[in-house]
Parts: sequence; structure tokens; C-alpha cells
Amino acid sequence: MSVTLSPKFFDVLDFGTPSAERDISRGLEECFVESAAYQRVRSGAKTIVMGNRGAGKSAIFKMLAKRERAAGSHVIELSPEDYSYELLSSTMAAENAGSWAKQGAYAAAWKYLIYILIMKVLAKKGMRLAKGGGREIHNYIRDNHATSQLGTLSLLISYLKRLEGIKIGPVAAGLKAHELDRLYKLEEIHELLPALRKVLDGQRVVVLVDELDRGWDSSEDAKAFVSGLFQACVSINEQHPNLRVYVSLRQELYDDIPALYEDAQKHRDLLERIHWSEESLLELIGKRIRYSAREKGFDVEALERAGDAACWSAVFSGPGQGSFRYMIDRTLYRPREIIQFCSEALEQARGRAGQLPVPHTAIERAEYGYSEERAKDIAAEYRFQYPGLLGVFEVFRGRPCTFSRQDLELLCLELATGEIPTSGTESWLPNCEPNELIGILWQTGLLSAQLNADDAYFGKHQVQHLNLAAVQRFQIHPMFRTHLGIGDSVGGALA
Ligand SMILES: Nc1ncnc2c1ncn2[C@@H]1O[C@H](COP(=O)(O)OP(=O)(O)OP(=O)(O)O)[C@@H](O)[C@H]1O
Ligand SMILES: [Mg+2]
Repeated sequence: MSVTLSPKFFDVLDFGTPSAERDISRGLEECFVESAAYQRVRSGAKTIVMGNRGAGKSAIFKMLAKRERAAGSHVIELSPEDYSYELLSSTMAAENAGSWAKQGAYAAAWKYLIYILIMKVLAKKGMRLAKGGGREIHNYIRDNHATSQLGTLSLLISYLKRLEGIKIGPVAAGLKAHELDRLYKLEEIHELLPALRKVLDGQRVVVLVDELDRGWDSSEDAKAFVSGLFQACVSINEQHPNLRVYVSLRQELYDDIPALYEDAQKHRDLLERIHWSEESLLELIGKRIRYSAREKGFDVEALERAGDAACWSAVFSGPGQGSFRYMIDRTLYRPREIIQFCSEALEQARGRAGQLPVPHTAIERAEYGYSEERAKDIAAEYRFQYPGLLGVFEVFRGRPCTFSRQDLELLCLELATGEIPTSGTESWLPNCEPNELIGILWQTGLLSAQLNADDAYFGKHQVQHLNLAAVQRFQIHPMFRTHLGIGDSVGGALA
């Protein structure tokens, strides 16, 4: 079924913003694609949400916050301003300055902070608390934290400082062990936990910790901060089903913290990885087109009846297998990518006083900027693990689109030996075996792999498990091609 949209809709159509923080006040609820992953998080079965940049971690948290609040829960959202890795590194002594295991210290400090925040929101409703056995909590907060206007991070740092002071400060040895034990066991608040559980029988508290990657500097303290939070989250979630601490984490950050993936076995059952498919991304855009039409006061009956594919075709016209195929092939299946690409194509069409559906030429014009931005963003995402990655991408500029394993291995060898020079890559590239480098380029999305001879090429975002060592042919992912001046013509590339 084809849908024709009012020409006026062309001027006002809007796919929403590229970040959930801004979308939440602009219709995210109406446009939200409710995946099974979201359900598992909502039910509390999964509490650690992991995904790449722009995959929808904040969207899940924003929706969770909204729905929990609507159901009467207390919601505590810890936002980016609350962490500053630089401050931590400059405030805390280095691990080798004393024998203090940082991760454990950070875990204790996080637990302390989160329990205090929880008790504070519960104590605000002092009257209700008084009946439920919560007078103790109320009194504790009144006596210890009533006047403190300290920011959240200060509370955490002050606890860390107490630990650090004992660990590496001039305290007599006998006292040290005792004092440390007290602090690690959170003695100050430990006795309040039974009262807290009782209060939680009648009230629900949800704590959301998002955007841990803001200002990430890969320092010792940053890593201990995040892995300590994981430990704290796991431990607090055991207290009561009505108390849930959720943490989101970017995939590369997780890979950058050895303490975390070494603990992966312990966390696996709590971990939810965000995945998108072509269908779910088409649904996401379909919902946004309908929402925009409704918002702007257009008659949406036909759109409401039409499927997501028909909504798409009403907005984008396309060649061959269609514009959706063309555009989705140029993403790593992340919502932010398709939203941005759609928005830029629409802008291009508007610039030429066109009309709906947006012609393919507008999509192609948008692709230049889009492809360049994506290549740079991806390289930036991996700047701690693989600094100088953009320069490695650049080495593929103007080369064929398709490579045999042999040719690719040779190129990788030339990169590792420095025969093809790159800058800023000293920390990782010279030690890279060709196979390893192929793995990195696959993981970051630059390379797609042919699973079987004569078959199509797939990217990491499309296959869950793959024996990369067995792959014989590779291709540069279409998202990077325009930026790198690589033609699509497979015939030419194979030559
Ligand atoms: N389930 C969903 N339904 C509808 N829109 C979504 C969904 N998930 C994400 N989006 C949209 O995709 C975009 C990117 O999502 P979001 O900001 O949540 O990504 P993120 O994983 O938090 O990224 P970052 O790592 O940069 O913080 C936003 O515009 C968001 O509204
Ligand atoms: Mg986010």
C-alpha cells in the first residue's frame, strides 16, 4: 500500500534528535521501540545495560525513569556532571603509593554513596517512613546528612579519602586493620539495612547510572570507579526486589577495563547487550514519521494504517532494492546513525526545494558528510584502545573495496612494520599480528566479512558469532566508502 503525504509535511517532517536526553521531552515515549531487551531491564532481571555509542542506552534509562515515576517509584538519576575522572585522579593517591586495592575501596564508597542517596529520598517522606520502621533512617539522615549540601561525587570522594587516609596515612598498624574493616563493611550504615529493607516493602527505589563514559580518561581511578560501581550494583541489588540499581556502559569502555571482563562470568547473567535489526530500525523510523505527522497536525489516518515500510517509502524514494536497503547498509545498526542519515538526507532535499518522497540524489549528497562524520566518530570511540585509528582507516583510501585475506594480511603487515607509516599508533600497532589487526578492523566496523564463497558480506553488527580466521574475503563496510573514496563497483574492486 502506498501513502501520499501532504506537500506541506515536507517542510516540517522531523525525525527527532540524536540523543535520548533531548528526545525524552520530544516524544520518545510515543516513538519508543519496546524491545525484549527493554522488557528484561524493566522487569529487573537485567541491571547492566551495554551497547555501543548511539545504540539506545540512555533511551532505555529515560523510559525506565519515566515509567517508574509514573508508577510511584522514587527515581534517582546520576548524571554526567556528577562524575569527573580528572578530579578523581588528581585527588586520590596512586595505587602504588600504598597497598590499597582501589577497586574494593571504590566499591565500598559507591555502596556508601548509593545507600545514602536512597535513604535521603526515602527520608524526605519522613511521615510515611515513621510508621514503616523507618524512623531510624530518618534520624540517621537528619543527624548525619541533613545539612550537607555536598554534591554526589563529593560524598563518594570523602568516603574514599577516609579509606585512603587509613591505608596510606600515619595510623598505627593495629588500629589500621580495625578501622579499615569498619569502613569496608560500611559500619556507619550497616545497622540501618534491616530498617531499609522494611521500608522497601512498601516503596520502590530505582537508581540509574548513565553516561559513565563522559570525560573518560582510562586512568587507574576511572577504571576502579567503574568496576567498583559494578560490584556495588550487584551487592545492592541483592538487598530487596524493590531496590534496583541500573548501570549503562559503552562496549569499548567495558573492553578497556580488565577488572570488568575478568569478572564477566559473575556479571554475565545481569548483562543486557543492546542489539538492533533492520526490522526494528525500520519500525523506529516508521514510528518517528507517524509521530511527526501527528504532532504537526496532519491527517495521519493513512500513515497509521500503513506499515513501517510504506511510511518509509512515502518519505524516501529509492533505486534498486530501495532507499531503506541503501541507507541501512550504511549503518552499524545503531538508531542514532539512521536518525542522523535520514535527517541529513531530508535537509539536502529541502535545500533544493524538492518534495516528498526525498529523491535518491539527496541521500547521496547527504552521504558525503554522514560518511566522514561516522568514520571520525568511530575512530574517536576507540581512541583509548587504538589511538590513531583514523589514520589506519585512511590507509584504505582509494584502494579496492574488496580484499582477499592474503592481500589484506599483507597490508596489515605493512602497517604493523611501519612500511606504511601512520601516526599516534605506537602503543598498539607495532605489536599487531596481521590477524589481530584484521580482528580490530572487523570489530570497529571498517571490515565486513564474506561468510561463504559467493555469499554477501556481513559486518560484526549483523552476526553474533563468527570464526574470523576462516574468512577468505573482506570488504570495506559501505558506511566508510564514500569518505574513503572507495567505489561501490565490486567488479572493479575484484580486478
Ligand atoms: N528503543 C528506542 N526507541 C526509539 N528511539 C530510540 C530507542 N533507542 C534509542 N533511540 C534513539 O536513538 C538515539 C540514540 O539513543 P541514545 O541517546 O539512547 O544512545 P546511547 O546509547 O545513550 O548513546 P551514547 O553512548 O552516546 O550515550 C536517540 O535519538 C534515541 O532517542
Ligand atoms: Mg547515552
